[in-house]
Amino acid sequence: MILVTGGAGYIGSHTCIELARAGHEFVVFDNFSNSAPAVLARMEQIIGRPVVWQKGDIRDPAALDKVFAGHPVSAVLHFAGLKAVTESISQPIDYFDNNVHGSIALMGAMARAGCKTLVFSSSATVYGPEQPMPVAEDAPCAVSNPYGRTKLVVEELLSELGRSDPQWRIATLRYFNPTGAHPSALIGESPLGTPSNLMPLVCQVAAGIRPSLQIFGDDYPSHDGTGVRDFVHVMDLAEGHVAALDFLTKNQARIVVNLGTGHGTSVLEVIRTFERVSGQRVPYEIVPRRDADIGISFADVSLARELLGWVAKRDVDEMCRDAWRWQAANRG
Ligand code: UD1
Repeated sequence: MILVTGGAGYIGSHTCIELARAGHEFVVFDNFSNSAPAVLARMEQIIGRPVVWQKGDIRDPAALDKVFAGHPVSAVLHFAGLKAVTESISQPIDYFDNNVHGSIALMGAMARAGCKTLVFSSSATVYGPEQPMPVAEDAPCAVSNPYGRTKLVVEELLSELGRSDPQWRIATLRYFNPTGAHPSALIGESPLGTPSNLMPLVCQVAAGIRPSLQIFGDDYPSHDGTGVRDFVHVMDLAEGHVAALDFLTKNQARIVVNLGTGHGTSVLEVIRTFERVSGQRVPYEIVPRRDADIGISFADVSLARELLGWVAKRDVDEMCRDAWRWQAANRG
């Protein structure tokens, strides 16, 4: 059985769907701080059977021990954590507490339970700002905000843990820009409050919730001047996690792998694509660059292909279509 921390969250819930499709049993462990138990019922609708879950916080060793005692957990997919960059700047303690202390508590509970196989959610944010693109896993890391630092600290802890005890099998997955939703439109991304990522904002503008989108800068060295990112469909990411799990089952190894498409798409291209596939208008205005934004980011995906046999299959059309279907069906 696979333990999925943060399994009711955006990437966690989509990965659970893929785990079920691949024939894995799983138990969701979530404190619902940025998700809702209602997501579990939606997941049940998609997979056609009950979802096993336990409410709990990864910082609570007793709750963790309980979930390990109650289920024969062979591996953990660890998604639970806080993820808003701006919030992390104003609340660094919360970010270190949830993301670093929480991960340490989880590793401790795993060790007590004798479960030493872990897939960790990291982020391309750990790469320094001035990297040549595409960026590969051996590029130097440099972080500019507390959120990014918590990811890097946990990565470092995991690598020390693996050195201390080679029985640990660990896959650290560095996500580029996850987007889209399950094609059923039953689950998707539900940011609390004002979103800060591009696609949820595009969706809200298309739905008339916001009058227009602000494009942060059109003077980057890209073909149309707007920022470029490696947007990757959340169902592709979900498949990447199952591939990483399969890899760890077969190999006693520790790996750090980018999950992206290997292609950059500009902010304007996202807007144009979204308008075409949704039939909605997305008014926008150009405003100055966002502080600390990087211009161009996309992944070198050769290691994922080589080690995991994984490639992203879905294109930006599909990401926009599924994001809009989710928005239109659920969020006005
Ligand atoms: C942001 C975070 C990053 C995190 C990632 C995934 C920052 C500086 N970085 O990355 O740490 O891992 O989200 O959650 O916050 N854009 C606009 N207008 C908007 C919003 C975004 O033009 O209203 C542009 C941005 O300038 C960027 C692109 O869209 O070029 C993507 O932005 P976003 O979705 O926030 O992701 P990242 O900046 O890649």
